[in-house]
This record gives sequence, structure tokens and C-alpha cells, in this order.
Amino acid sequence: MIASAPGKIILFGEHSVVYGRHALVSAINLRCRVEAKKSKVFRVVSPLGITGLDFKVHPYVSFAIKRFSELKRIDGAELIIKSEIPIASGLGSSAAVTVATLKALSGEFDFMLTDEEIFELAKKVELDVQGRASGIDPFISTFGGSWIFPERKKVEILFDFFVLKLWERSTKMMVEKVAKLREKHPEILERIFDAIDAIALKAPGCDSEDFEELIHINQSLLRAIGVSSPEIDELISKLEKDGFKVKLTGAGGGGCIFGIYRDRKPGGSFVVKPEMEGVRIEDS
Ligand code: MEV
Repeated sequence: MIASAPGKIILFGEHSVVYGRHALVSAINLRCRVEAKKSKVFRVVSPLGITGLDFKVHPYVSFAIKRFSELKRIDGAELIIKSEIPIASGLGSSAAVTVATLKALSGEFDFMLTDEEIFELAKKVELDVQGRASGIDPFISTFGGSWIFPERKKVEILFDFFVLKLWERSTKMMVEKVAKLREKHPEILERIFDAIDAIALKAPGCDSEDFEELIHINQSLLRAIGVSSPEIDELISKLEKDGFKVKLTGAGGGGCIFGIYRDRKPGGSFVVKPEMEGVRIEDS
């Protein structure tokens, strides 16, 4: 059984969403495909390597298998993973592989989970791996579309976006970094989170000019909470000099930066579009 799930772009609200604030997020037209086959042993085949259940090399897939087995006992499965979503870059590759794995397993082992059940299980997997998470990534990967989260208010995003990939980094580490800063300066961080919350709520009604202003403000606030870096700031200033407005998306510390795509994009970047469809079974 083959299932696929989309990646995502957090337009506004990463990190503050972990502390109960709103985020504006959209699924994107890059997907992760997982094929599940019954087998006597566990085997995971992906661009990261070929392993059995391996919580270091394939943490999300291994925890997804573990969580699925708690509901339906399975003695083995082969999972073959192919993804268009860059890994560890803030575009939701981990959630997409988790959600697609759960859907493929549920189809292969005749234990059909609803999308709501897949979302709840994938959220647990994310917490298994990261320790702290808002659930925004598994949510958008399961349901697709564009939303104000955690409200589940559907919105329409009329723009395409250019995305520039920087380098890979760990979401867990970046989330911990913000948690430490918040422990030290709670009264300041909470106010920054409130400002980001206001941005996420305002953005859906904005034209491209105002949307770009919000991109600029949110990036400054991400810098303030320590998830940018001198290299990223320098790159962003250079792009601003060229007339682009960009911000980090996802956990930061690297990953990806994005801006609204209007005919022109920075060298090395690629274009993504909002995607309406969430997880689905694919024809084999
Ligand atoms: C990661 O894509 C988004 C973060 O806000 C973490 C989370 O919400 O779980 C950094």
C-alpha cells in the first residue's frame, strides 16, 4: 500500500505556536511517498539508509511503527520512502513521513485509521522524538490546505512562494533553545509571542505589500528569540537590498527562508504552491 502526505510552509507563527499562540500555515505541493509491505521483519529503506527499527537513523518512521503496533500488533513491515521534501529544513519532511507511514500501514494491515486518528498518532510520534511540539506539522500534513492553527480556521492563501534552502538543522535543538531563552526572560518572550500571534491573525486578509511587511516584522521577532544567526541575517539583508522580503520558516537556525513569488526569485531558490490535499492513498 502506498500513501503520500504533503510538506508545509509556516508563513507566520513558528515557535510562538508551541506556547499556544496562532500560526498561519499552508500545505505545499511537495510530497513524501511511503510504500508499506507486509514482511516477517522490520525494514526501512530511505535516502537516509536501510535499517530495521532504528530510532537514531529513522526516528519518525520507527516511532510511527511503534505507535501503530500499539493499536494493531504487527510482526514486521517493509517501508520504502521517497520524498520531494528537503530533509531537516523546516518544510515538514518529518511530519509528512510520519503521516504517510501511518496511512500506508493502516491500509496495508487493514486497520483503517481516520485522518483524525492519524493526526493524533502523528502528534504523539512528534512528541516521542522532539519532546516538545505544537502539533502544527502533523496537522497540516494530514489535512492539507491553509489554516489558522490551532483554531482550525480554513483560510485562502493567494500567493505562491519562493523558498531558499540553507542548511539542515535539528528542530528539537531549536525548540529547546527558545525554551531556555523563555525560561530566562519569560516576561519579554511572552510579549514577543503575542506580537507574532497578532501577525498570524492579521496576515490572511492582507494584500501582497502588507503581507511582505508582516514577513519583515516576523523575521525581526524570530531574530529576537534567537533562531536566526549572523549568516542568515547577512543573507537576508543582501536579499532585501535586491528587493526581496524574506523570513525563516519552521524551526530556524538554518532550514529554509521564503518570500512571496512574483515573477522573480533569488538564485538557487525554488517555487512552492499551496496544496489543498492532505494525506492520501496512492495508486500503486
Ligand atoms: C516546526 O516546524 C515549528 C515549530 O514551531 C515547532 C512546533 O510548532 O512544533 C518550531
